[in-house]
Amino acid sequence: MKKIGVALLGLGTVGGGTYRILRKNHELFRKNEGLDINVLHVIERNMKRVEELGVDPAIVSENIDDVVNNPDISIVCEFFGGIEPAKTFLIRSLEAGKSIVTANKELFSKHWPELEAAAKRGKAGLYFEASCVGGVPVIRTICEGMQANTVLSIKGIVNGTTNYILSAMSKEGTSYADALKKAQELGYAEANPSADVDGFDATYKLSILSTLAYHKKVPVERIYREGISGVSTKDIAIGGSLGYTLKLLAISKNRNGKIEARVHPAFIKNEHPLASVSGSFNAVHMVGDSVGDIMMYGRGAGDLPTGSAIVSDIVYCAKQTKHAYLPFKNDGSSRDCDFITDFESKYYIRLTAVDKCGTLGKISTVFGKNRVGITTVLQKDTVGENGTTDIIFVTHDTFESAVRKALKEISSLEGVKSVDAVIRVED
Ligand code: HSE
Repeated sequence: MKKIGVALLGLGTVGGGTYRILRKNHELFRKNEGLDINVLHVIERNMKRVEELGVDPAIVSENIDDVVNNPDISIVCEFFGGIEPAKTFLIRSLEAGKSIVTANKELFSKHWPELEAAAKRGKAGLYFEASCVGGVPVIRTICEGMQANTVLSIKGIVNGTTNYILSAMSKEGTSYADALKKAQELGYAEANPSADVDGFDATYKLSILSTLAYHKKVPVERIYREGISGVSTKDIAIGGSLGYTLKLLAISKNRNGKIEARVHPAFIKNEHPLASVSGSFNAVHMVGDSVGDIMMYGRGAGDLPTGSAIVSDIVYCAKQTKHAYLPFKNDGSSRDCDFITDFESKYYIRLTAVDKCGTLGKISTVFGKNRVGITTVLQKDTVGENGTTDIIFVTHDTFESAVRKALKEISSLEGVKSVDAVIRVED
C-alpha cells in the first residue's frame, strides 16, 4: 500500500471540507485506489477550528518549516486564498519536492509561471482542479477529454455567489443586499465580496480555463470585466418578459486563433441550457470542433464540493510517476495570442425618454446611422414624472464600439433623459 503524507495549509471552509473527506473516506482510498492517505501536518492558528474538526493539536502549528522539512509529506494543500503568504509557502514546498494542490484561482491566474518554474526545480506537481468551478472536474475534462478538439468557445456560470444573488433577485424578488448576505452565510462568498460581485473571481477562473483550452496564456488583465452590482430587479423583470434570464457569464471565444474573453452580466434565452442553472450551482458550456457542444454542471463552491476536487487532485497526484507541465509558454509573452477587444453581441438597452411624438424616430435614426440594427422595441405604457417613459431596445449582433457611439449620441438627444441599462444578450 502506497503511503501518502499530506499537509493542509488552513482549515477554513474548503480546508475543513477536505479534512472531513479524507477522514470519512480513508478506507475507500485504501480499497479503491491502493493509497493510504494521512494528514501529517496542519498550518492553522484558530485552535477552536482545530478542535471543532477533531484535528490532533499535536500536528498543528503556524510554522511552514514544519511542512517543508517533513520528509514524509509529499503533497501540500493550500486553502489560504489570495497571494501571500500562499505564494511563498507553495514555492518553498515545490522547491522542497512536494507537489501542491490548491483552490487558489487568484494565485494561479496571476503567478502560474513562477509556480511552474518552482515545480520544475523541485520535480514536483501542480494540481488546481479546485480553482475553477468547485467540485465540477472541468480542468481534467479540458486537459484529458478535449485533446481531439480545437476548443472554439467557453461559456460559464463560474461564480456561485453571483448566481445565487441573481437567482434570488429574479425568482423571489430578494434585494441584492439580502441575497449577498445569505450567500456569505452559506459559505459561498469570498472574504471580500467585491471579488465575487465585481467579477474578479470569475475572471481568474476564465483566465485559467481559457489558457488550458486554447493552449496560450489568456492573462487576467486582458479579460473585460463588469460585475453585478449595477443590475436592477427592474431589468431582470423586463428581460424575463422578453424570454431572457440574467446571468453573470464568463465567456471566451477562439476566433481563428484570436481570443475574446469577457465577464459581465448577460441575458440568455430561457431555453439555453445555462438559463436553468440556479442558486449556487455552476456550469460550463464548451464547444469543440470535433465533439460539438458539451456542458458540465455542479456545485461551484462550498466545503465538500470544493473539497471533493481537492481530494480528487490528491489521489490523481499520488498516482503519477512523473508530473506533467504545460507544453506551451504560459507567461503572456507569446506573440501568437491576439485579443479581440471590440466584441460582437446583441444588446438590451433601456432608456428613459419623454413620451412625445418623434422621440422614438430620433433615437432610431441614430441607431441606424451607427449601423446598430434593432430586433425588438418595447415602450412601457406607464408614464412617469415629467411625462417620461421607459423605452427598451434589443439589437441585432453589433459591435460594442458601435453601440457605445450610438448611445453617446442618443443620450444627448432632446427628449432622452438617461440611458439606464445596457446589458449584452448572448445566444
Ligand atoms: N466565491 C466563489 C463562488 C467560491 O462564489 O463561486 C468558489 O470559487
